Amino acid sequence: MEGKEESCVYKNPEAPVEARVQDLLSRMTLMEKIGQMTQIERAVTTHAGITDFFIGSVLNGGGSWPFEDAMSSDWADMIDGFQNAALATRLGIPIMYGIDAVHGNNNVYGATIFPHNIGLGATRDADVIRRIGAATALEVRASGAHWAFAPCVATLTDPRWGRSYECYSEDTNTICELTSLVSGLQGEPPKEHPNGYPFLAGRNNVVACAKHFVGDGGTENGTNEGNTIVSYEDLERIHVAPYLNCLAQGVSTVMASYSSWNGRKLHSDYFLLTELLKQKLGFKGFVISDYEALDRLSEPFGSNYRNCVKMSVNAGVDMVMVPLKYEPFIQDLKDLVESGEVPMARIDDAVERILRVKFVAGTFEHPLADRSLLPTVGCKEHRELGREAVRKSLVLLKNGKDVAKPFLPLDRKAKRVLVTGTHADDLGYQCGGWTKAWYGLSGRITIGTTLLDAIRATVGEETEVVYEKIPSEETLASVQGFSYAIVAVGETPYAETFGDNLELTIPLNGSDIVTAVAEKIPTLVMLFSGRPVVLEPAVLEKSEALVAAWLPGSEGQGMADVIFGDYEFVGKLPVSWFKGVDQLPIKAESNAYDPLFPFGFGL
Ligand code: GLC
Repeated sequence: MEGKEESCVYKNPEAPVEARVQDLLSRMTLMEKIGQMTQIERAVTTHAGITDFFIGSVLNGGGSWPFEDAMSSDWADMIDGFQNAALATRLGIPIMYGIDAVHGNNNVYGATIFPHNIGLGATRDADVIRRIGAATALEVRASGAHWAFAPCVATLTDPRWGRSYECYSEDTNTICELTSLVSGLQGEPPKEHPNGYPFLAGRNNVVACAKHFVGDGGTENGTNEGNTIVSYEDLERIHVAPYLNCLAQGVSTVMASYSSWNGRKLHSDYFLLTELLKQKLGFKGFVISDYEALDRLSEPFGSNYRNCVKMSVNAGVDMVMVPLKYEPFIQDLKDLVESGEVPMARIDDAVERILRVKFVAGTFEHPLADRSLLPTVGCKEHRELGREAVRKSLVLLKNGKDVAKPFLPLDRKAKRVLVTGTHADDLGYQCGGWTKAWYGLSGRITIGTTLLDAIRATVGEETEVVYEKIPSEETLASVQGFSYAIVAVGETPYAETFGDNLELTIPLNGSDIVTAVAEKIPTLVMLFSGRPVVLEPAVLEKSEALVAAWLPGSEGQGMADVIFGDYEFVGKLPVSWFKGVDQLPIKAESNAYDPLFPFGFGL
């Protein structure tokens, strides 16, 4: 039967990619082409569904898993099951499974959880970010996935945005330098690699995804999925620039943004998705929509869906993250092609791009999980890398009420120390959103080291560590015995719109905890947050030292390494630290610039 004989070009790994693409495309029916453009959520995926609709891709959204605390091998079993259903189709086109591995393979229990992007921005270390990409790729491949929806290269304009922690910086040049995650995930392309053409080095790599194109971080007041009002020149200078660095590294996919530019929804904007990204910038991979983004093109949500499909596919979206109601999507797109409202040429262009990435990624040759990589998941080497990144991400904002008498490094042989605060022993808080659950969780959610674990592992045996999540009256009354206190407070986990916040005060009475302790015991404050937060004057004045720890992830030992002096502080603010939210959005280039701590600050 056609497509089965081994001689066909597309099945030949030695044949040039473009020849394989054209050969396969020429064999495909309209339904097989539309199936490749369809990405569905694992929760609604069946093997029959994949086979019957020729589905091209499956994903899991944040918090969607095979079962609670599933290990990498369980994920591999699930994904390989989907893959075998795809390979059973007439042409045997493998799926690409996509996952939000945005700070390690963070959905998976036991995976190494690296600092979120805001902390990596503070490191200013493109090489550590590249190595994190390479480590993440191994852990993602071990779980059977082929594709990580990372890096987010949004330019952080207003920290009231719920996705601030997914940004490397407010400064575009800093972001451009730190797009090296692409080369980590996909491998480093050779110098002669054509700009904009997808690249993937080999079996230990995964497809990357630069997101969210474009201007997602520039919306008014930081409103998630909102409207970015800037001139075209500023859009290019501030928000498009990092995509040039990603294209130069051969990024294979780009995710469109839910947001709008000057009132124009990105998901239906032909000028930005096709004329700018594909024609002017020369992007040859494929554009994936965001989750149910087509439904959000109309009011009320999902109304006139057929028209949303028409606008979005014609604008340049190549694969649609439907991801739930995929039969109506497929039916609508089929109708649109048969009626001529979506040209066949547009379908062919989209499918060419998708097939190109699948051939480049070696998905035809290595469709299934590589279980030989399972020992890399959460391995010592990866955790040491996470620990290094944590060390380099910490920003020292204050060190001693009297600069002549630095408070840090702490004495690890102190007789008695108090460790307290909502964030001192909470791995979930330390990891933040996009960790196991979509919005993140509290508690011992995976394998890792909390700040308290790290302190206990670092101080001498003769040091007594007293831990209370909330300092008790008795403790505060009998303070004379303490050499110093470490108070850990900060934000509770969030994701996307749930993180939009106009007040930006420290939750869970964090400021009160700090002042209650700091007015009695010399105190180091460790602040866990995905962005700058309001620092009350009392917090600033009464604490001896203040460290921005951001969202460090599972390797908390990196914090002890620095506060006890085994390593220097090197972190620099990747974002201006405002005095009050009335200053927002704060712009470093404006002459009214008057932050509490300026962009680039760090003792
Ligand atoms: C989410 C996010 C996007 C993520 C996608 C899949 O809504 O906007 O960053 O990759 O959906 O989870």
